[in-house]
Amino acid sequence: MTKNNFVFSESLLAWWDIDGRKNLPWQQNKTRYRVWVSEIMLQQTQVATVIPYFERFMQKFPDVIALANAPQDEVLHLWTGLGYYARARNLHKAAQQVRDEHNGVFPEQFEQVLALSGIGRSTAAAILSLADDQAYVILDGNVKRVLARYFAQEGWPGNKKVEDQMWQLAEDLKPKARFGDYTQAMMDLGATLCKRSRPNCDECPVQSRCLAYAQGRQSELPHSKPKKQIPTKYTTMIIPSYRGSLLMHQRPPSGIWGGLWAFLETDYSENDFVTPEMWKTLIPADIQDADYSTTELPAFKHTFSHFHLNIQPVLLEMPSYLPNEVQEKKSRWVDIQNVGDIGLSAPTVKIIEALKVQRPLAF
Ligand code: ADE
Repeated sequence: MTKNNFVFSESLLAWWDIDGRKNLPWQQNKTRYRVWVSEIMLQQTQVATVIPYFERFMQKFPDVIALANAPQDEVLHLWTGLGYYARARNLHKAAQQVRDEHNGVFPEQFEQVLALSGIGRSTAAAILSLADDQAYVILDGNVKRVLARYFAQEGWPGNKKVEDQMWQLAEDLKPKARFGDYTQAMMDLGATLCKRSRPNCDECPVQSRCLAYAQGRQSELPHSKPKKQIPTKYTTMIIPSYRGSLLMHQRPPSGIWGGLWAFLETDYSENDFVTPEMWKTLIPADIQDADYSTTELPAFKHTFSHFHLNIQPVLLEMPSYLPNEVQEKKSRWVDIQNVGDIGLSAPTVKIIEALKVQRPLAF
């Protein structure tokens, strides 16, 4: 490794010696067992929340054998309120692995630690560096943020390829010594200065070599999870109305909005709303002959998991109720002030609510 790469760890450690956290409960009487429990508790949970849970846990289960021999209910009980209970079940199971496969001694070999239930590469590295000062580097959420900024890493760090690249960057910065302090310093930098929003770059020990800082891209990096690209489709909904009632239809039992009551709608098109000539062909023949007026209501978007649907509602104000044929079986006039016990899709509700507010006089 080039000499330059040590500048990072040296600056970071010098900062941590002055400003880093050294009084957390799991930093006292450091053992692999205590550090392990704290690391599992600290996954997705803030330090301040974890502290009392950690203290109670250590009182009840002072060593890995005590934990392994406890009934699962007791472990889960001490976890109540921390959330993500799979963590507690895995912790308990791993304690039994340690009891049964490692003679009750929490292993010190990286591969053996990694094989325990609920422990991934970064957690194994955290335990062995923090507790034993072994030469492993971590890559948790905080560290990903620090590195993504420092190196102006492109891509979402949750992506496997990007993550692999970031493991390499993390390895490149590994210090010559003080591996445990370095792990803690990376966590502390990410948690206290290099925060997701409004990072405190003025205080940062590695600001002078940070690419995101140089490029003014701190708020852009790390890139967030890419939004799925989904297509946009268009439909026009036809809403015959007469004196506060709307003509609705029940949709077929399967497919989108199956069984719900809805307005007549055009087939979904890909590029734009269809022309009035097109949607007029949808209108039942007896309505077509009536002397109605049309009003385009504001179009809006409804998003499904796999496409956006732009909806253009068109209100047809009828001079009278329609003849009986269009009121048969799956159609009915619905009073907008009193819709009744029928199932409605979200866009249908939206249209009805808009009509109540915007067009009360039209009825
Ligand atoms: N988050 C995860 N591990 C931590 C630790 N050892 N100290 C503070 N926050 C943490």
